[in-house]
Amino acid sequence: MAKLMFNTVTIVGTGVIGRSWIRVFARAGCKVRVFDQDPAQAKRAVDWLAADTALDVREGFIDEQTRAHTLANVTLHADLAEAFRGAGFAQESGPENLAAKRAIYSAMDKAAAPDAILSSSTSALDIDAIAGDLPGAARCIMAHPCNPPHIVPVVEILGTKKTSASVRQAACDFMTELGQKPVVLNFFVTGFLLNRIQAAVVREAFLLVESGVANAEDIDSTIKDGLALRWAFIGCFGANHLNSDGGIKTYFERYAQTYRDMIADLKNDAPAFAPETMAQIQRECGFKLGAENIRAFGQWRDRMILRLKAIKAKHPRP
Ligand SMILES: NC(=O)c1ccc[n+]([C@@H]2O[C@H](COP(=O)([O-])OP(=O)(O)OC[C@H]3O[C@@H](n4cnc5c(N)ncnc54)[C@H](O)[C@@H]3O)[C@@H](O)[C@H]2O)c1
Repeated sequence: MAKLMFNTVTIVGTGVIGRSWIRVFARAGCKVRVFDQDPAQAKRAVDWLAADTALDVREGFIDEQTRAHTLANVTLHADLAEAFRGAGFAQESGPENLAAKRAIYSAMDKAAAPDAILSSSTSALDIDAIAGDLPGAARCIMAHPCNPPHIVPVVEILGTKKTSASVRQAACDFMTELGQKPVVLNFFVTGFLLNRIQAAVVREAFLLVESGVANAEDIDSTIKDGLALRWAFIGCFGANHLNSDGGIKTYFERYAQTYRDMIADLKNDAPAFAPETMAQIQRECGFKLGAENIRAFGQWRDRMILRLKAIKAKHPRP
């Protein structure tokens, strides 16, 4: 295995996101030192890793040796300072709460080696508000994943106002080495890129259900069997580019006014997100409740995305 930029990383927080990050770093060959303020939670994360990798072996996604190497790279630590021993990079995935993140970052800044990069998974907070006033602000950065990062590669990168250009570059290069896809924000904006785009689609999808234009299954089919099939390979702008033989410029010469009219018709109000709407969506989309059903649906999602990623890797854009 090629030498990585950082051999040893620290995971702080081992919930849904932290446990998935453990897998990202460990499968790439990093020694992963894991800390959670609740040791039982850290143990559950490692148990999840053992079970999920076992499933991947059974279904032929990885071999037993890869699984063994991944698991052997992970150690649990009851003490934060101990978890930071030898680490050049840390990924924080604690609770999404400014006071909690500030306290965790302050502790990490003290525990980490002076040149270690401190990266946060925050999905909505400004990294500058979390870490901008710390002595080590220049080595602090956000690396916001899409859940779960061991399956979905995109990671949004944003520094504090004091983060050095070299730290930003190192975070991007390391994420690339790990098999993630870093995308860089130039400044903070609510929702960053991913959740901002997602919110625009979610808002319209819910408003279409609430106003009775179509049933929920047909609205989701428009995405699953229409827009997202193209988006998975060519993105929004690529789809625009291919909608006209003359490319994106010609497309919008023809359709800009149509888009302006449609955009003018979109309502500004947020959906009500009422319980009855959720019940309707569940029913019309055939969603099953219960932990087992949701876990099975999630596992199917993960495996389908892995297959799609394999196709994308095998057939790069010409
Ligand atoms: N869940 C998602 O879909 C998602 C997606 C992207 C990013 N994120 C972000 O990732 C972060 C973690 O989210 P999650 O869904 O995994 O949360 P979670 O509640 O599942 O996990 C948080 C973990 O942090 C631990 N923790 C609490 N205080 C701590 C401390 N002082 N030191 C160490 N560990 C501590 C908890 O014990 C828990 O295991 C959040 O910032 C969230 O916004 C979440």
